Amino acid sequence: PKVVFHHSGDAGTVVDADPGSNVMRAAVQNGVAGIVGECGGQAMCATCHVYVREPYLGALPPVSEDEEEMLDCTAAPRDDRRSRLGCQLTLGGDLEEVEVDVPEAQL
Ligand code: FES
Repeated sequence: PKVVFHHSGDAGTVVDADPGSNVMRAAVQNGVAGIVGECGGQAMCATCHVYVREPYLGALPPVSEDEEEMLDCTAAPRDDRRSRLGCQLTLGGDLEEVEVDVPEAQL
C-alpha cells in the first residue's frame, strides 16, 4: 500500500507501507513530520490525527467508539468528514492507497 502525506498543501511525501500496517505507523517508520503516535496505536492520544483527502473517504473503515471520542480531543479542529486517527486506518484490502493532510497544529 501507498500513503501520501501532505504538509501545508505541498505536493506530498509518498511512503510505501506493508499490508496490515496503518497510516500512523507508516508515518512514524518513515519520519513523516507531525505524526507522533504517542499511544502506539491504541486510539488514546490523537497525535496521529489526519485529514483524509476526498477521493479516499469511501474506502475508509467505520469510526469506532474509541476513535469517535478521541477525535474530539485533537490539537487541530475536527473536520466532520475528513478527520480520522491515522492508527485506525489499516492499509491493504480496500485501502491500497490513501492521501492525507497532516494538520498544521501538529507540526
Ligand atoms: Fe494514539 Fe493514534 S497513535 S490515537
